[in-house]
Amino acid sequence: MPDAAAWSALEADAEAARSRSILSLYAAEPDRLERLTVEAAGLTLDLSKQPWSRAGVEAAVALARASGVEQKRADLFAGAAINTSENRAVLHPALRAATGGNFSAKGEPVSAEIDQVRASIKAFADDIRSGAIRGATGKRLRNILHVGIGGSDLGPRLLWESERPLNASFNLRLISNVDGSEIAVALDGLDPEETLVTVVSKTFTTQETMANAQAARQWLRDAMGSKGDQHLIAVSANPQAVADFGVSPERLFAFRDWVGGRYSVWSAVSLSCAIALGFDVFEAFLAGGAAMDAHFLSAPLERNAPVLLAMAQVFNRNGMGRAARAVIPYSRRLRLLPLFLQQLEMESNGKSVSPDGKPVAHATAPVVFGDQGANAQHAFFQMLHQGTDIVPVEFVGVARNDEGPASAHPKLLANMLAQSEALMIGRSEAEVRAVLQAKGLDPAAIDVLAPQRTFPGGRPSTLIVMDRLTPQALGALIALYEHKTLVEGAVWGINSFDQWGVELGKAMATRILPALEGGASAPHDPSTSAWIERLKR
Ligand code: F6P
Repeated sequence: MPDAAAWSALEADAEAARSRSILSLYAAEPDRLERLTVEAAGLTLDLSKQPWSRAGVEAAVALARASGVEQKRADLFAGAAINTSENRAVLHPALRAATGGNFSAKGEPVSAEIDQVRASIKAFADDIRSGAIRGATGKRLRNILHVGIGGSDLGPRLLWESERPLNASFNLRLISNVDGSEIAVALDGLDPEETLVTVVSKTFTTQETMANAQAARQWLRDAMGSKGDQHLIAVSANPQAVADFGVSPERLFAFRDWVGGRYSVWSAVSLSCAIALGFDVFEAFLAGGAAMDAHFLSAPLERNAPVLLAMAQVFNRNGMGRAARAVIPYSRRLRLLPLFLQQLEMESNGKSVSPDGKPVAHATAPVVFGDQGANAQHAFFQMLHQGTDIVPVEFVGVARNDEGPASAHPKLLANMLAQSEALMIGRSEAEVRAVLQAKGLDPAAIDVLAPQRTFPGGRPSTLIVMDRLTPQALGALIALYEHKTLVEGAVWGINSFDQWGVELGKAMATRILPALEGGASAPHDPSTSAWIERLKR
């Protein structure tokens, strides 16, 4: 089917969905639940509560096919330069492949180097954990301060928060913001002689990270003099900048330019986690990602989890004009998932121009937001149930959790299922009226109250459930979203792997900073100039 015909078919089913209840589709399509429940790398996805009918799903899959998703997938794994504006391969799957892989980036073999870096991460993590490597004054290293921002922070932060043991033998703190309060809190109570500082930055030029790295290095030097520098470790794709900062090559863990920042959690960027959680945990995380790669590569598009998840997004975004999506993990340990996905999806697909410089024909990335359930229910779910905008919701759940009181987890799961059901089914005005009548309210009061207590329903959601929140499951979950992002990018006709939109603000901050520090001010708009006057030292 040509691209335009596939778009029309999807839009036609979306149009029909406006006047059809999602619930009615279960009766009309007896195989619906089974057909739209997909198993992938230990995750179960239920996409049956989405507004698409069988015809809509078929149109969506045809659209994925017509948009060249299979070719984009092949190009990704082949190491082709699919990041065209930077002429770079995009090869994060190579980082999580089993040892002895055969990946190439733009024709250059990379798997041997990946295995070598992975072995050095293991050796370093094992030696620190065993005490074979100690601090400059002979003390055992017990703390890690991880300094990085964006992709050099969010992935490791999510990995640590998801998998940290209750009684961690390592204390890992991550700082990202260039806010004095943040580093002050992070360093509070830490003994520099027992602390390793990992400075993580692909470019090693990011203003926030370099400022925090300098502050951390000063803190080490204040305690140990020049020996303090032995506690500094760099993770970067820019060895020259690392050397210029004063970190010697044997304390650099490298990765390459074909690892995008927001796709870098599989690389040495997670060194701090490999140390703090143990290399076996990191390795299991990689294996989970590789299992999702195997699914993405082999499952037919009709049963392919990243493809269906992406196409549900396309159906809502483009077919139904829904400009946001909420991601609600019913797991405290996954509470950072929405933040991670904000960068992954909004930095990857928040684009308006195609790789050949032409305006895109369709709306691209929606706003992604969320918080952990059940907290989110008590904060913004009012709007999701009764607001004027329909916001599709993704519920991410964990079937089993042995932590804490046994009575807690069923309550959490009950709330997740209840919210998904309530969004779809709603509560009709007739039902509300009957309840109010039964309570003995007079008709005038019922007329006023009933509309306010009615739930329109018909609000879509997806369930993604894992058995336990193991490192493998987390790896599979992140890889699921990475591939979903690639599929959406292919359908929207954009390059999901560059991020030119972050540059302008960075450049302007560099122009404003000297004025705030007391120097001369460059010309600005009237508002900015006035604020510089107010805020300068
Ligand atoms: O400003 C956005 C960004 O470039 C992200 O893409 C990246 O993850 C982050 O900054 C950090 O970059 P770096 O790892 O080079 O410090």
